[in-house]
Amino acid sequence: MVGDKLGRTLRDVRISVTDRCNFRCFFCMPPDKEIEFLQRSELLSYEEIARLVGVLVSLGVRKARITGGEPLMRAHLENLVEKLASIEGLRDIALTTNGYTLDRKLDSLVSAGLKRVTVSLITLNQDKFTSMVGRDVSLNRVIEGIRSARQMGLNPVKVNMVVVRGVNDDEILDIAEFCRENDLHLRFIEFMDVGTLNGWNMDRVVTAQEILSLLDKRFGVEELGKRDGSETSVRFRYRDTGQEFGIVASVTRPFCSGCTRLRLSADGKLFTCLFSDRGYDIKKLLRSGASDDDLKEYVKSIWTEREDRYSELRSLERAQVKDRVEMFRVGG
Ligand code: GTP
Ligand code: 5AD
Ligand code: SF4
Ligand code: SF4
Repeated sequence: MVGDKLGRTLRDVRISVTDRCNFRCFFCMPPDKEIEFLQRSELLSYEEIARLVGVLVSLGVRKARITGGEPLMRAHLENLVEKLASIEGLRDIALTTNGYTLDRKLDSLVSAGLKRVTVSLITLNQDKFTSMVGRDVSLNRVIEGIRSARQMGLNPVKVNMVVVRGVNDDEILDIAEFCRENDLHLRFIEFMDVGTLNGWNMDRVVTAQEILSLLDKRFGVEELGKRDGSETSVRFRYRDTGQEFGIVASVTRPFCSGCTRLRLSADGKLFTCLFSDRGYDIKKLLRSGASDDDLKEYVKSIWTEREDRYSELRSLERAQVKDRVEMFRVGG
């Protein structure tokens, strides 16, 4: 096990397989912004990713999450899942997706060894969806993707609702109802100041406290806390049904003290924080004949020097990273 300067061990890896997406959510990849995407040759291959993950597992990583951009935009993602599933010691393989093509890809992903999926759902209204994701795409396809995941027996299926004031905060209770009815584990996510493109400001953040009081008034809720110290969300329970939901309160209840996540970008850079302004180029090493031991030493040297805790510093108004990398580049 490897610890960083604040005593946090390396336990999870978030793997971005592409920076591309079929949506342009205004809070992530605003449609009016010019975005330059990576070329195919710049991407790590699935073999390279799996090799790196093998090295990370030997350093203590137990959980891998595949993200993007939109990870299902990358062809034959099941091939990566299969490679990851064969790594001994890796206990959990999860996917975060916008759900648009999930319905037709689920079978092959699950057969390859995918254990869990999390799907973003930001509204139940088609017109609002079109405007929020910046594309004229069918919301129903996302909902079908979520339903099929649950029907296939994946449990829990998590649903992420990023809440932005004045945009979709009027749907908090509707989406809660939808997830209660369909037995989905909903997580409300506070709008974050990730990257520099999304026009974030504190006035647009609906706080965990506000979300909770709405839910409590309607359903009655109680806090369960975190299942383990490295979880992003605080868990709650509806008093009537006992179903669980969570809130990822990166802005008002930062969780840096338990942050055990390393991020690997699609072009082979390691990031030790979602709000970093620089990554460590491990692709160069991978492609210059480095041995697994070399890779291991490199990762270890990065992790042991790590001391970032952006969200905590932000809440102390001491955050200083100005050129923050975009989330679709570093992996959500
Ligand atoms: P579980 O493995 O099910 O606990 O999921 P997760 O919360 O790790 O993954 P998911 O991709 O669903 O992320 C939920 C939200 O938390 C997203 O908005 C992420 O960007 C955000 N998030 C994930 N990891 C971090 C982190 O280390 N720091 C911050 N600030 N936000 C994070
Ligand atoms: N703030 C909070 N969450 C965000 N996501 C994307 N951009 C932001 C943001 N600015 C969410 C996605 C997805 C998860 C990986 O991160 O909707 O659910
Ligand atoms: Fe695409 Fe997800 Fe970003 Fe929306 S939040 S633009 S779906 S990567
Ligand atoms: Fe980890 Fe950075 Fe998120 Fe804090 S802000 S939890 S250090 S990724």
